[in-house]
Amino acid sequence: MATVTDPKPSVIVIFGITGDLARNKVLPAVYHLYKNRMVDEHTFVVGTSRRDVPAEDVLASLQTSLGQEDEAIDPDAIAVLRSRLSMYTLDPEQPDSYDGLRDYLQSIEDKAATCLERYFYLSIPPQVFGTVVEQLGTHGLQQGCRHGTTTSRLLLEKPFGYDTQSAERLIAQTSEYFEESQLFRIDHYLAKETAQNILTFRQRNPLFNHIWNNRHITRVSITAAEAIGIEGRSNFYDQIGALRDIVQSHLMQLLALTLMEIPSDMGADSIHAAKLDVLQSLQPVPADKVADQAVRGQYAGYRDEVANPTSTTETYASVVLFSQHPDWQGVPFRLTTGKGLKLKRTSITVDLGEPGINRLQFRVQPNEGITLTLQVKRPGLARDVEPTTMNFDYESGFGVASTLNAYERVLIEAMQADHSLFTTSQEVLAAWELLEPVLAAWQSSGDGLEVYEQGSDGPDVTKLSAI
Ligand code: BG6
Repeated sequence: MATVTDPKPSVIVIFGITGDLARNKVLPAVYHLYKNRMVDEHTFVVGTSRRDVPAEDVLASLQTSLGQEDEAIDPDAIAVLRSRLSMYTLDPEQPDSYDGLRDYLQSIEDKAATCLERYFYLSIPPQVFGTVVEQLGTHGLQQGCRHGTTTSRLLLEKPFGYDTQSAERLIAQTSEYFEESQLFRIDHYLAKETAQNILTFRQRNPLFNHIWNNRHITRVSITAAEAIGIEGRSNFYDQIGALRDIVQSHLMQLLALTLMEIPSDMGADSIHAAKLDVLQSLQPVPADKVADQAVRGQYAGYRDEVANPTSTTETYASVVLFSQHPDWQGVPFRLTTGKGLKLKRTSITVDLGEPGINRLQFRVQPNEGITLTLQVKRPGLARDVEPTTMNFDYESGFGVASTLNAYERVLIEAMQADHSLFTTSQEVLAAWELLEPVLAAWQSSGDGLEVYEQGSDGPDVTKLSAI
């Protein structure tokens, strides 16, 4: 089991605790931290919601969510969480609410007779981020406890903004009140075990490190396919779509990890600088090439689900990008995501030589691991060649797929104030800028939106495979 260095008395304030993300990801992660004793005994959780919701209801929905994952519930851990969890009713638009929240946090600190590290986790729709950040700031909640001996940190869920302009606005708003060191922009794909392995694998195996360029690599395809649909998130999803939801964040980050120069010190600042170099060396899809370099689709039944008969929001997006970096010129990087597909599968496939023949694949999920496909001679007199695979998977290699899930890791790293697996404002902006021409083209017309059957492989992408 992973250990946490010197956990400190803390309070985690979860904005939007009754939402899907908090119920399915954030709260289970918090529960696991209590269960595995990874937090200080004086660690409290405050859930905010607009409605007056009893803490017992939140605990009940947490248990339902754990049950859905087939996890046996640990009554002792639930009992500890019950004693630490409380609710605070808050209208994000109402300044008074934040005065009350500040007093409430102070009362918890008074009762615990200690100052607490404060974490504000914004698990709320992106449209409300700005307001909450501003209200936290104008009410002094960006400071630690009143004696000033602790810090306050802001954890933000993606998407950061809706496009370059809104992201710039949000960045300006947050930096007015919070220092960059207090900000943790979460991209939970960076916290997945295989994503964490990409740099180590590349760095520690000279075999691959030396061929990591366009003289050997002919194509990189990063895919995050999901079998689930939008799962009731109609309002959020119909305004966002697949490109903003997954390509701009998770897939761009995985691409940056795959291509970046490996810094010798592996410190957070060097990692961020190297990732930014990658993002800035990629070329936005030229406006007149959007139809050639990008494909979008919508699963059948989506419009009824969101009750918007004319919606052109994509539930599937695939985009090919190119880099201007001399080491990567000419290599297509294809980023693909879709909902309502046959299988859940996230992978990074690196083709060497003719695509499909000799390839290295990082399996991010499920069945986490790494596969190398090689050509070998089939036994016998003939010189027939067959592909064969060398396979590493965490389960058989280490007995477990991962000791921590992505959200647990996110919380722990924020508590340890390690920024390496979070994204910087510059990375966020660079990723938006790359997609602007596609966003603009897709916004202005519904042309080329292909409807695909749920449970299928998605739209026809032959034109992209040919690039
Ligand atoms: C989220 C997206 O960031 O990632 C969701 O908003 C998506 O639409 C989810 O379903 C997928 O995460 P995971 O960890 O289940 O692959």
